[in-house]
Amino acid sequence: MGFSHFFLRRVIRPGDRVIDATCGRGQDTLFLAGLVGSCGEVWAFDVQEEALAETAERLRSAGCSPWVNLVHAGHESLASYVREPVRAVVFNLGYLPGDRAGLVTRPDTTLLALDQSVRLLLPGGMVVLAIYTGHQGGDEEAACVEAWASGLSSREFNVWKSRQLNRSDSAPYVVIVGKVPPGK
Ligand SMILES: C[S@@+](CC[C@H](N)C(=O)[O-])C[C@H]1O[C@@H](n2cnc3c(N)ncnc32)[C@H](O)[C@@H]1O
Repeated sequence: MGFSHFFLRRVIRPGDRVIDATCGRGQDTLFLAGLVGSCGEVWAFDVQEEALAETAERLRSAGCSPWVNLVHAGHESLASYVREPVRAVVFNLGYLPGDRAGLVTRPDTTLLALDQSVRLLLPGGMVVLAIYTGHQGGDEEAACVEAWASGLSSREFNVWKSRQLNRSDSAPYVVIVGKVPPGK
């Protein structure tokens, strides 16, 4: 989503460590790999082997594979793979377009992953979520994410929600959680 990428471009620097929590076909993974460059590190998670295989091919074609770790596991276990602080975490919730299995992200695992993400976040870093509500369970997941984000300390985090006013209520929207740098 262009809006998410606008913010990610502003915070991510070459050499950073970042996470794609929902790698899918790898569009965001490739975007992140481009921002951190060969001195950086991307961790990308998905529960679908096919999605990871497609992402691996996309990265290989672009020459970015060496600094991307593709993990076949749910993002709810991301902290057992990523042990060092990260500049950004990206979530693209919902289902993979065209996926016949219809596998969607779920509130319980999404919230576990979000808790782990904010703990890993560097000061000045951000978690960016693209939220979809047009599928079954989407409204419930969106409400859980918003309740979670609303409960974060305003001394530690800036939390924004952004919707497009000229699109329907079921159009995807963005939630951003930014970790306040010390002294700000
Ligand atoms: C909207 S798609 C992501 C699209 C992706 N950003 C892209 O550029 O293609 C959501 C993805 O989340 C994955 N997913 C669902 N539950 C997951 C979980 N617990 N952990 C990690 N990925 C999960 C799905 O398999 C699907 O590929």
